Amino acid sequence: MTPSHVPVMVAEVLDALPLRPGGVAVDGTLGLGGHAVEMAARLAPGGLIVGLDWDETMRERGEARVRQVEDVDVRTYHADYRELPERLALACHEVGRPVGADAVLLDLGLNNTQIEDPTRGITFREEGPLDMRMDRSRGETAAEWLNRAPAREIEDCLFSLGDERWARKIAQVIVDRRRTRPLATTTDLVDCVLAAIPTAKRDKRLHPATRTFQAVRIEVNRELEELGDAVARIARVLNRGGVLVALSYHSGEDRAVKTAFRDLAKEGGFETLTKKPLVPTEAEVRANPKSRSAKMRALRRVN
Ligand SMILES: C[S@@+](CC[C@H](N)C(=O)[O-])C[C@H]1O[C@@H](n2cnc3c(N)ncnc32)[C@H](O)[C@@H]1O
Repeated sequence: MTPSHVPVMVAEVLDALPLRPGGVAVDGTLGLGGHAVEMAARLAPGGLIVGLDWDETMRERGEARVRQVEDVDVRTYHADYRELPERLALACHEVGRPVGADAVLLDLGLNNTQIEDPTRGITFREEGPLDMRMDRSRGETAAEWLNRAPAREIEDCLFSLGDERWARKIAQVIVDRRRTRPLATTTDLVDCVLAAIPTAKRDKRLHPATRTFQAVRIEVNRELEELGDAVARIARVLNRGGVLVALSYHSGEDRAVKTAFRDLAKEGGFETLTKKPLVPTEAEVRANPKSRSAKMRALRRVN
């Protein structure tokens, strides 16, 4: 599989992060290392780059890429970014540095390689097992959750995480169908959505299953759970003058980041560098349409 993920808003991210030779940076969502490799290059010589990804395949591939940068210490972990403070402490300890980071990046959400891999069951465009987990070493698959959750819980998920107007009907179809045959593949879920939304009412620009797949994926991976608390804990690993940048692709994510940044700034010791989120330029969206929903926010530690 060749890397196919195009990193988003790279110039804006690098511009916001104080990266200098000998400094420390953390990429909490390493992916294929598109941002991390650029960050690492700016830390050489003598810097430390720490990378985390809860998808072991991504961690391996991201690490291989970042290791191409010379004269920088590299430490990567198969871990949730909610464990970032502990992993940073470990990495700093291993290389004999005081614990703290000058720059932290959270590029939330999914990597294109993950979306396009049919064995993960994230895309509705191809048949695959209805899994959707990004960390396949633990947790419930989408099929397991959809085959056991009460209709009301499925409806709430589709409505609040996918803005799906047909949430109730889709949940009903899922619960009816699983009685005779449990859902097993992405096609099973697509069929439920198609059975629930009348053809005449479908949005012509968006595949009818788009919202349902997004919502179930966020639920299965608990992508929004404790995001605000995690951001607040992560911000505290910054050295004075250090900056945390978060890239979000979903309104729920951006809201959690915005609220966490605002609360930290109110408490004191931090300032938000982006009153409004930055968005990709038109040229970037033209070149990489998948960047269109990105929102970037930055926070600096002032003392
Ligand atoms: C948008 S991609 C990052 C792409 C990366 N910046 C690049 O340029 O290649 C997001 C990555 O974060 C990982 N991820 C998402 N949520 C995570 C979490 N809670 N903890 C650790 N990694 C996470 C995903 O597995 C994915 O590889």
